[in-house]
Amino acid sequence: MSDWIVLGGPASTDIAENLARMLNLELVQVDYKSFPDGEGKVRINVDVMNKKVIMVHGTHPPCDTHLVQALFIAHKLSQEGASVHACIPYLAYARQDSEFQAGEVVSLSTVSHLLRTAGVKSLVTVDIHSSHGLGYFSIPSFSISAIPLLAEYAKENVNLTDPLAVSPDFGGSTRVEAFARILGIEKISLKKARSRTTGEIVMEESNVEVSGRDILLVDDMISTGTSIQRAAKYLEGFGAKRVFALCTHPLLVGRAVEIMESSGVREVIGTNTVPSPVSHIDVTPILAEHYRTSLS
Ligand code: R5P
Repeated sequence: MSDWIVLGGPASTDIAENLARMLNLELVQVDYKSFPDGEGKVRINVDVMNKKVIMVHGTHPPCDTHLVQALFIAHKLSQEGASVHACIPYLAYARQDSEFQAGEVVSLSTVSHLLRTAGVKSLVTVDIHSSHGLGYFSIPSFSISAIPLLAEYAKENVNLTDPLAVSPDFGGSTRVEAFARILGIEKISLKKARSRTTGEIVMEESNVEVSGRDILLVDDMISTGTSIQRAAKYLEGFGAKRVFALCTHPLLVGRAVEIMESSGVREVIGTNTVPSPVSHIDVTPILAEHYRTSLS
């Protein structure tokens, strides 16, 4: 891997540093400046000719700014003769992976097109919203699961009574299954019906016994906290003891943590794909493992 280097984009400098250290690769940074009108300027002040560059740069909020930065960096790297391999720990727009209503942009398809046009040769992300989304990428693309890290964290840091792993919606069934298998515990998936016009969420019934049990709600991302809030209230209505919320991507928009805590969630736990006060779990080891096996 001697021709590989790691480049830390401004969105993910910590993960880039950790990755370079774990892979024993040179780390380079970019100079980033933003102007008062909101435009940004990127400068790459190192020779990257003939280098294979792992560009680590998440597209968490501000999503559009981070996405444009990724495109600028990738384009410049390829213009300078590098081969660009994007490591995007949180891939924005992965939820809009279909035309749910006529006329909607399939945002993920456009993101894929833009990255490829900017010169990106491969993509690694963590827990893409749905594996279906990877189908939009015509370059080699991988979604690495952080679920084992969440399960290990829960095992080591939370003292649980008769735990039950719960996905707040049916789309998360595979995730919660993997999580529960690692911990050797029972699991269920609730059915969440979200109105595409009003955004209103309705929980549908599940017939599993939750009374007196500790609940581990597992999701790929927590944005406004509404899905977790509704699930927590629903489960507490059935006598759940304590509710913990674990996710890969803690976007935690606005009052998300407050909203969840006020509906009885004891603790919110996330990874550092998105920097936040609850980003307790470092995903770098699983990224490093992927690169070690695929690049050697
Ligand atoms: C939806 O399908 C996702 O898996 C998450 O459940 C959802 O995006 C979380 O959003 P919020 O926190 O705003 O309810």
